[in-house]
Amino acid sequence: MSPYDTAVQVVADQAHLLHPQHHPSDHLDPQIWVAGEGALITNSAGQTFLDGLSGMWNVHVGHGRRELVEAAAGQLSRLAFASSYIGDTSLPAIALAERLSTLLYPTINAFFFTSGGAEASDSAFKTARFFWKTQGRPEKIKIISRTLSYHGSTMAASSASGVPAFWEVFEPRVPGFLHIESPYPYRFAGGGDGVTPGIAAANLLEEAILREGPETVAAFIAEPIQGGGGGVIVPPADYFPRIRAICDQYDVLLISDDVITGFGRTGRWFGLEHWGVEPDIVQFAKGITSGYVPLGGIGVSDRIKAAIDAAPAGRRWMHGFTYSAHPVCCAVALANLQIIEGEDLVERAAQHGAHLLGRLKALEQLEHVGEVRGLGLLAGVEIVADRETKARFPAEAGVGKRLRAELTRRGLYTRVLGEVICLAPPLITSVAQLDRIADILHESIPAALAR
Ligand SMILES: Cc1ncc(COP(=O)(O)O)c(C=O)c1O
Repeated sequence: MSPYDTAVQVVADQAHLLHPQHHPSDHLDPQIWVAGEGALITNSAGQTFLDGLSGMWNVHVGHGRRELVEAAAGQLSRLAFASSYIGDTSLPAIALAERLSTLLYPTINAFFFTSGGAEASDSAFKTARFFWKTQGRPEKIKIISRTLSYHGSTMAASSASGVPAFWEVFEPRVPGFLHIESPYPYRFAGGGDGVTPGIAAANLLEEAILREGPETVAAFIAEPIQGGGGGVIVPPADYFPRIRAICDQYDVLLISDDVITGFGRTGRWFGLEHWGVEPDIVQFAKGITSGYVPLGGIGVSDRIKAAIDAAPAGRRWMHGFTYSAHPVCCAVALANLQIIEGEDLVERAAQHGAHLLGRLKALEQLEHVGEVRGLGLLAGVEIVADRETKARFPAEAGVGKRLRAELTRRGLYTRVLGEVICLAPPLITSVAQLDRIADILHESIPAALAR
């Protein structure tokens, strides 16, 4: 017999819990998750689903990993908390920072830890502004980001995010944040006359920098593959190399938001590796602990680290959180990285991702499938009303909800952003399970659109 009455729990949830992006209409009949094992999650009714989004794009090594439980329990019993402020540090924090310096882009060798991705965004923006102040250029303060981006929900991170719904109800935004258009290959209309869409989309950054004045722009932030804002948007291959060149030309720092794309998700350790580009600042979260405990952070280039170290004590990098470099979270991250390496999950994401994408590509035969795209174990299937015009269904048609209901009915739990079915299964998901995910999409899309 269940130790709780689900109906009673639902009433208590509705009365007392405010959820992320809260609206009561989303919580009339919530899923209460109670267990997970590998690529599967189980709800309070005892129903088991394939976890199509690895929780929130983060459970890379799958659910129920004893190694992570033991790493947490071991550190909790030895020393549950230690400060990493002024003169203090801890063994797991040192080990993790050192470990990351061998995994990340070659010039990124120093790390600051947060509790998640939004704090990482704020840390990156503050660090970019700090860096330019140390260089005698205090007027370089603006942060440019892209439409359809998502960088988190703090004031600064939501000001950078490129979906107006995240800021409109909380105006005013933090000043100094502006957006350029996403390189969205399926919908970007620029390019032509010998200019590829990728170069044309990147050139929008140059135009924005020149419009604002290069002397006022601190940094450009981009997710290597856009995730939570637009629904898995893979840029053209020539986009990021051109972005890097523009940033270099105008002394603008490049911030790579690898919160979703980090730690093997795309078949490389970090996203910009696909295009041979190195950022000045990297931000990460999610997959670093596979979500077992909260941890995020930033890595900074050697040039930025030198500037932080050279600042006078009275003008120091005055930033930090109680839970920066939490020893339990760092210990879990180390064990998680060991699993990712030991089980070759980065290469596995590349190979299994290619297999999944191959299976999903066949969906493009269906009447309302506009585009199937992805890289590694990150994929998006965009549904449209009309493939010719790429017109979307009207919001009243509730297509996103219908799709999600059909997927769930067949045993796949995932997110539909607008009308893009997003997939980011755990990196340990078996080929048979990936095939089942593809089969479920093949059945669910016509079923959802038939009505
Ligand atoms: C690219 C990106 N950056 C930042 C964040 C914010 O992370 P968090 O929710 O841990 O604050 C997210 C969350 O989905 C994200 O996808």
